[in-house]
Amino acid sequence: MTAEACFVPGEPWLDDRGVHINAHGGGVLFHGGAYYWFGEHKISGKAGNVAHVGVHCYSSTDLTSWRDEGIALAVSDDSESDIVRECVLERPKVIYNALTETFVMWFHLELKGQGYAAARSGVAVSSSPTGPYAFCDSFRPNAGHWPLNATEEQKAPLEDPPYLRNRSVSGGPNAATPANGFFRRDHLGGQMARDMTLFVDDDGTGYHIYSSEENSTLHISELTPDFQRPSGRYVRVFEKRWMEAAAICKRQGRYYLLASGCTGWAPNEARSAVADSIWGPWEELGNPCVGINPMNGLGQEKTFGGQSTSILPVEGLRDAYIAMFDIWCPEDAIDGRYVWLPIVFSEEGMKISWRDRWDLAGFGT
Ligand code: GAL
Repeated sequence: MTAEACFVPGEPWLDDRGVHINAHGGGVLFHGGAYYWFGEHKISGKAGNVAHVGVHCYSSTDLTSWRDEGIALAVSDDSESDIVRECVLERPKVIYNALTETFVMWFHLELKGQGYAAARSGVAVSSSPTGPYAFCDSFRPNAGHWPLNATEEQKAPLEDPPYLRNRSVSGGPNAATPANGFFRRDHLGGQMARDMTLFVDDDGTGYHIYSSEENSTLHISELTPDFQRPSGRYVRVFEKRWMEAAAICKRQGRYYLLASGCTGWAPNEARSAVADSIWGPWEELGNPCVGINPMNGLGQEKTFGGQSTSILPVEGLRDAYIAMFDIWCPEDAIDGRYVWLPIVFSEEGMKISWRDRWDLAGFGT
């Protein structure tokens, strides 16, 4: 693949050392003329579903050949650390903060031995894109802040009735989910934050977009000017749509979202949405995927076997955005595959068609 400079979705993707790239649930930062791909470093077997190593970084100038830059953020050997080895550290994303000239990484963190109950966000910083990143803190975002779009009536912390306790954490749609319950329950302690992405708008404002409220509702949350904390301004969107794997881009002044439903490692049907303001209202557009992945026989109803992780704008090419998906392999986590496909935009929204192989020339200039 590297020699031919084309994308071959679903095939092992070899780095400059001939090793399958190990950067799952990842995102790509463009900085100083190069791309940096950050993702979860997974090990073999089921053991790889928790973090044994940390966040792996690769660099590239052409998006197809990637150089191994090593571990950008390492898990800790200190049993007191939030990111001790065998925590769950997922979907890392890095953005550059021009004010502080610092690279800021956010990720979904679950504390070791607690399954998916902690639902925290972790933050780490570095003065160099490839790291090493220093872990700062982990927390549930927006403690003590009401969503901007909560009604006055909703702005009252809920008592903790039994029906709000101990909910299944990754169960997906559940008819018994109480309307407006979870964010009120979590008002004081902070909002649950699992699958996540980051986005920097044209005006330099940063946003953290995360699956919250037991995964039932997405939050779009503004960051502080240094990108290291939530500012406290956030909205609830796609209430009770159980959106995961959110990815976002801005094209011609409009915001586009790509996401999945909530079925754990198993694939489901992708979703898309558009908005004129990042705060919404968001209009859902449906499944943007078309075609079949011949390697596993899975079509658009299963997102080719994948789940979205990021949308990557290609530098220097007009209207060129790549949808990045992971094909998870929970039985042998290290063998998870990558599906990168071009997004075609139209009045109807976005379309992502399966390609056996493709290259950037298809985007035009
Ligand atoms: C998925 C999620 C992944 C991971 C997995 C664990 O739904 O997108 O990032 O958390 O569940 O089952």
